[in-house]
Amino acid sequence: MIGSAKAEDDPADGWFPESVAAGYDNPGGENAPEVVTRAVDVLEDLADGPVLEFAVGTGRIAAPLAARGVPVHGIELSRAMAARIAGKPGGDAVEVVIGDMATTRVAGRFSLVYLVFNTIGNVTTQDGQVDVFRNAAAHLRPGGLFLVEVGVPDLRRLPPGQDTVPFTVAPGADGGGYVGFDRYDVVTQRFTSNHVTVSPDGQGRFRRIPFRYAWPAELDLMARIAGMSLKHRWADWDRSEFTAESTKHVSVWETAPSA
Ligand SMILES: C[S@@+](CC[C@H](N)C(=O)[O-])C[C@H]1O[C@@H](n2cnc3c(N)ncnc32)[C@H](O)[C@@H]1O
Repeated sequence: MIGSAKAEDDPADGWFPESVAAGYDNPGGENAPEVVTRAVDVLEDLADGPVLEFAVGTGRIAAPLAARGVPVHGIELSRAMAARIAGKPGGDAVEVVIGDMATTRVAGRFSLVYLVFNTIGNVTTQDGQVDVFRNAAAHLRPGGLFLVEVGVPDLRRLPPGQDTVPFTVAPGADGGGYVGFDRYDVVTQRFTSNHVTVSPDGQGRFRRIPFRYAWPAELDLMARIAGMSLKHRWADWDRSEFTAESTKHVSVWETAPSA
């Protein structure tokens, strides 16, 4: 986090240290039960044995999936985030390894590896993202699946000469408010997501997280480099058709079946 690192934050926890983890499970948004349930429904359906979540975070998805009886493992960089998993229903059953999802190996072969909530973009180089695909493939049994949920880069809303796209401007009724915007570098494919939160007393908090964007076609190529091919591309967890107007995608690649 840039701009408001707190004393309790361990730099080893990257962009999701204690001060971020403490509020990560606040109600609403991606934590809304209907949002979580839609994702867990799809993952449970695709799972055919043990599964592995890359960047498992606080167990937002892993814990409810484990509560349904699916054996869930996770890799997570931030100890502060991972510390929250065991306290959730199902969380006790999630086996977590602290490490980098591009390189960390977990024992076993999995039917499904999944990486949700735009987190492929937290790896900010193309080589690093390819390593994530390779590492996913290395954990899969023959015919296993790698699922990624990520936004489509918002470049169609970026006219020449402009590098910033607002995604939320929400004045609060109490005098505070929130402004969120992405700032793109179309040469490097890096961008930052910027979050400005102002409390009713006028105190502001600015949080900035770096990402790298990739078109779906580039992700397909990364999958191919890792020995996988596209099986599904949906516009969302409802498995609706992916179109030119889709703002995100849920994509599933498959490793080759055994000979
Ligand atoms: C937006 S959160 C998503 C957490 C969880 N998957 C969810 O859906 O709620 C991103 C998480 O990715 C983790 N992360 C970022 N880069 C990582 C990496 N290279 N390896 C492992 N975890 C990583 C962060 O620490 C953070 O917990």
